Amino acid sequence: MSDRANTLITETLKRIHQVIVEHDVTYEEYQAAKQWFIDVGEAGEWPLFGDVYIEHAVEEQAFGNREGSRGTILGPFHLPDAPMLQAPFELPHRSDETGDRTQVSGRVTDADGKPLADANLDIWQADAEGRYSGFMPGPPEGNLRGQVRTDADGRYEFTTVIPGPYTIPLDGPTGKMTAAADWSPWRPAHIHLIVGADGYEPLVTQLFIATSDYLDDDVASAVKPELIVHPKATGDGEMAFTYDFALTPARTPAVA
Ligand code: DHB
Ligand code: FE
Repeated sequence: MSDRANTLITETLKRIHQVIVEHDVTYEEYQAAKQWFIDVGEAGEWPLFGDVYIEHAVEEQAFGNREGSRGTILGPFHLPDAPMLQAPFELPHRSDETGDRTQVSGRVTDADGKPLADANLDIWQADAEGRYSGFMPGPPEGNLRGQVRTDADGRYEFTTVIPGPYTIPLDGPTGKMTAAADWSPWRPAHIHLIVGADGYEPLVTQLFIATSDYLDDDVASAVKPELIVHPKATGDGEMAFTYDFALTPARTPAVA
């Protein structure tokens, strides 16, 4: 076993043992916890649990003091190989898709403001009812998922709908744990993006809709003030907002 594994495993167990001592944890509580571990596995909720309750700390540790735009958690609902959109850059959606249509545009630059041409934005989001295609009943496969690239001036644009807030499944073990702790199970409305360009560190982030509920009570602790956007009515029945992304150079790969 590596020193690193030994350290992390030892320290994690030590903290669990400390809780048991400090809070006089009983055999009944231990058995309930053990059953809950089993239930999370059987429900396939370990990715969800990890991304809701642990990932934000890893993200902040990894990228919290990086220059450029703020990142936040990836979450469990990204799918690879979303289609590359062509003009007019509209995320795939149903003919009767609900939610306010909104135009999103801006620039991708380096940390000094130099435009990055041909940068890639991989975009995914829930529908107006908070459902992600490919994971939940309702939206068809590929709904509200797509990629766009920046032009020679680093500009991008796409059209989508304002998503709804999302609640983690209430009837699964993660939801039951959340209720047992008396926490809100909601995430505020958000649009996910991975912004990438050759030679730059991929930026995994989310844009949060300013008018959404739960901005100050995100179950996944992933909201950062710099990531809140303010869609405004354009006058032609749609909304619009802009957001500029600044990328930092790719980290030197760690030597194995
Ligand atoms: C979860 C859902 C999200 O939409 C997200 O962005 C992060 C986490 C989740 O249910 O785990
Ligand atoms: Fe999400």
